[in-house]
Amino acid sequence: MANSIVVGAQWGDEGKGKIVDYLTEGSDVVVRAAGGNNAGHTVISGGRKYILHLIPSGILWPGKLCVIGNGVVMDPLGLIEEIAKLRGQGVTIDPSNLLISETAHLVMPYHRALDRAREARRGDKKIGTTGRGIGPAYADKVERGGLRAVLLKQPEVLARELRDRIGMHNETLAAAGADLVPVDETIAQILDAAAILAPHVTNTAVRLHQEIRSGRNLLFEGAQGTYLDIDHGTYPFVTSSNTTAGGACTGSGVPPRLIDRVVAVAKAYTTRVGSGPFVTENEAISDMLHNMGREFGATTGRARRCGWLDMVLIRYAVMINGADELAITNLDGLDGLDRIQICTAYTLRGETLEYPPATAADMEECVPVYEEHEGWRQDLSAVTNYNDLPSKAKAYLDRVAELAGARISLVGIGPAREQTLVV
Ligand code: GDP
Ligand code: IMO
Ligand code: MG
Repeated sequence: MANSIVVGAQWGDEGKGKIVDYLTEGSDVVVRAAGGNNAGHTVISGGRKYILHLIPSGILWPGKLCVIGNGVVMDPLGLIEEIAKLRGQGVTIDPSNLLISETAHLVMPYHRALDRAREARRGDKKIGTTGRGIGPAYADKVERGGLRAVLLKQPEVLARELRDRIGMHNETLAAAGADLVPVDETIAQILDAAAILAPHVTNTAVRLHQEIRSGRNLLFEGAQGTYLDIDHGTYPFVTSSNTTAGGACTGSGVPPRLIDRVVAVAKAYTTRVGSGPFVTENEAISDMLHNMGREFGATTGRARRCGWLDMVLIRYAVMINGADELAITNLDGLDGLDRIQICTAYTLRGETLEYPPATAADMEECVPVYEEHEGWRQDLSAVTNYNDLPSKAKAYLDRVAELAGARISLVGIGPAREQTLVV
């Protein structure tokens, strides 16, 4: 299987966690390389539900090494909480199966405060962030004022640097009329967390290369999705990292020539949480899915916006990520429909677009061009073999593959590990 990257082809929540969990069986090391605990990856295994935010989903499999790479922004307090919760569910986590890159940047309480303050200031132009401090943490990294995980092993330096940064960011918070971050209390809290996490911190790039040389297979767990990518997404309604396939390399120290396979994950329809353009958004689909108790965010609990499958997005995502394969999840979400629409192109001021336009304002103006398919009107959740899918469901998938320009290798017909069909 060699080294594989799993990425989201839409606006996140495509079911990457479930697909990564499925592919972990054939992998040895699972790596997160971007984003932070804005991610929420749901895995249902052995009838139990787990939600992963910073820890790679591979942690649920015994004997797999999980790595938080240098491209991740890591919230030490969030990570400790996540570790405690997973341990409470019986998952083993220690420095033998969870490593943190020493050059991963830290998300600090002032980043969360700044995230909230900036969103409040944006008013009705808000991005609808997860409030986890992701944007301000990446901003500090790029501005060269960030603190990195290596400092968790140097408490005196960490305390000194923290005092400086809290002072600096409190000036901004004061100017915004926001609550200040308490200095001594925050330093004490972070130093406690540092003592717990320090044994996990190492040069993960060296370790990953050692693993590769020993013949082990790496699986990169994408976070967020292609249209939340800071460069390729629907800017400014995006996250602050490179969520696309290239981010797996820069965010881990594993070079592009060692990557063998890219799997893009997409739902059989489209969802988005937070603000920004959404060409195929559809209230009836949203209501249908929400009434089924589906499409509520794993991190914030917010109801996700829903709509028809948008092949303009998938086509471009396949290109940008170099996806060889598509994993289509949540096909069962369309079970009850008589008619299903697929968006094949957009029209914008009389012009037909095959790829998304550059600005959010133009995208807001795009009108979807739909192609109608007949629904299969059948419960798919108990299907165990791809060939046993109704012919109308297979026809839908064939058309998706044709429009995407990539083959479909996996199909999800329910949230559980077993509800994954191999094509
Ligand atoms: P991620 O962020 O990409 O890992 O996705 P999330 O876990 O945030 O959201 C995906 C949701 O869809 C979760 O509730 C999953 O349990 C669920 N899910 C994933 N694949 C399937 C599927 O094929 N069918 C159904 N019914 N649910 C699925
Ligand atoms: P997973 O990995 C869906 C969205 C937020 C918001 C925008 C910016 O579970 O697919 P941020 O907090 O990152 O500054 O928010 O990005 N967002 C996600 N939406 N799934 C995610 O992760 C997301 N991570 C961020 O809702 O619109
Ligand atoms: Mg999610």
